[in-house]
Amino acid sequence: MSKTIAKRVFSGVQPSGTQVHIGNYFGAMKHFVELAKEHETIICIVDLHALTSVKSASDLRSHSASLAAAYLAIGIDPRQAIIFRQSDVPEVCELAWYLACHFPLGLLERAHAVKDAKAKNININSGVMFYPILMAADILLYKASLVPVGADQKQHVEMTRDVAERFNLQFGSIFPVPEALITEETGVIRGIDGRKMSKSYDNFIGLFEEPSAMRKKVMRIVTDSKSVEDVKDPEQCNVFQMFKLFASKEACENLARQYREGGMGYGVAKKELFDIMQLALSPFREKYNHWVSQKDELEDILLDGAKRARKIATQTISAVRLTLGTGSLKASKT
Ligand code: TYM
Repeated sequence: MSKTIAKRVFSGVQPSGTQVHIGNYFGAMKHFVELAKEHETIICIVDLHALTSVKSASDLRSHSASLAAAYLAIGIDPRQAIIFRQSDVPEVCELAWYLACHFPLGLLERAHAVKDAKAKNININSGVMFYPILMAADILLYKASLVPVGADQKQHVEMTRDVAERFNLQFGSIFPVPEALITEETGVIRGIDGRKMSKSYDNFIGLFEEPSAMRKKVMRIVTDSKSVEDVKDPEQCNVFQMFKLFASKEACENLARQYREGGMGYGVAKKELFDIMQLALSPFREKYNHWVSQKDELEDILLDGAKRARKIATQTISAVRLTLGTGSLKASKT
């Protein structure tokens, strides 16, 4: 049965660590799986973006393979959705340059990542500054209209909209102006210290982490110093916030009631959280452990995805070249 292609969805995750965390999953990746059932969905391993921080070839390759395994483990079907590695479709770099020539530098200087680095006096490479342009090129190369991401990517999608509008204004309707899909409840998942979960804060719980390591992290979730008997506010508690991600509505109401009545200690709540996480995540972990050892098959899946992605990419880039006056006119006719 052919599905009606209502919208084209595009998103990506950086292969910048050994594994994705539950913030990546609930903020973005879970939506990939759901959207792929209804829409034409293109999911990218954005290894070019990861080069801003990953400097070892073997690390980048193994992180990319691990991310491919993660996509499969959470239930993305590579025969339906396209899963591919960004650098296998080099047209993205060409489009990034074209977009850069239409994007004010001042806007790039206002990007959160650049402002944060400046505030902390950290020396950044030019790739960090250029990052949003490459991300805009990702989205626009595939003419996507829906971009499921966590809240931290809102500014990047807004920049993409901005550059698409500038381009369209000057050259006619070339790109769809994409929309970010950010879910209110899961846009910012908190880490074990209560700040936004992030690899760089080292406050994350890996999506496929082994139970013993996961238990230790759950037990380290920061709480206030209320005693077991004290009445507690579930909405202010990091343990409860994480519990909500995994538990049914009924189980959440039940735990919330116990918090409000008093008599529920954080130790017991953490144990309940750990148990429910195991229930939800063990099937993912099993599939991930299977896929991550199938390096050859993963590579075939990514190459097949790149082939399909490149078909779309070459069409877009030919049209853009024609519009801008680059490339041979003769080549564009063949
Ligand atoms: P990255 O690799 O940092 O994160 C991948 C996705 O996970 C989301 N995320 C979170 N969501 C909720 N709570 C959190 N604590 C949390 N941490 C991470 C991110 O918002 C993201 O959606 N720039 C992108 C990668 C990218 C991209 C693209 C995305 C490159 N090109 C084109 C969409 C479209 C990034 O750094 O993701």
